[in-house]
Amino acid sequence: MAKYIMTLTVNDDAHEFAADDTDTLLDVLRNQLALTGTKRGCTTGACGVCTVNNVCGESVLSCLTPAAEWDGESITTIEGLESDEELDAIQRAFVEFGAVQCGFCTPGVIMSAKALLNKYPQPTEEQINEGMAGVLCRCTGHIKVKDAIRNDFRLRHEKLRIALEKE
Ligand code: FES
Ligand code: FES
Repeated sequence: MAKYIMTLTVNDDAHEFAADDTDTLLDVLRNQLALTGTKRGCTTGACGVCTVNNVCGESVLSCLTPAAEWDGESITTIEGLESDEELDAIQRAFVEFGAVQCGFCTPGVIMSAKALLNKYPQPTEEQINEGMAGVLCRCTGHIKVKDAIRNDFRLRHEKLRIALEKE
């Protein structure tokens, strides 16, 4: 199969690599760029463990997305949420509320939560249920995941307050 050269910016790093028409965005992340935080689950769009965020901060199922459609685009994966070696507030909330158990779904669940919080910084229960409907966690029953999402806003503001107090 013919290969073509494509570019993709992942977590603010630009990459150039060869891909073919059968490659998905998930294949490229895991096999070409060694970014294995994004998980391979059902590969049929049913579990959400492969979720990444597009440049608008929206969820994208990387297992269903042909890599070729992303030539020249930018995405964020779970590896890109930390800044200055500090976890993002939603990552800290997942730890604080015990929303991580076996951890297999966690990158996709967090990237879905991030997309939800990008759209609704303080989501209602209905918005949480709707925004997280596409991801499956077999360990937590989603109760702790929802606790973490409800507390993201508080943790984010605490971090901001601490940063302001240091200035
Ligand atoms: S691996 Fe993409 S939705 Fe399951
Ligand atoms: S933490 Fe195990 S599947 Fe979600």
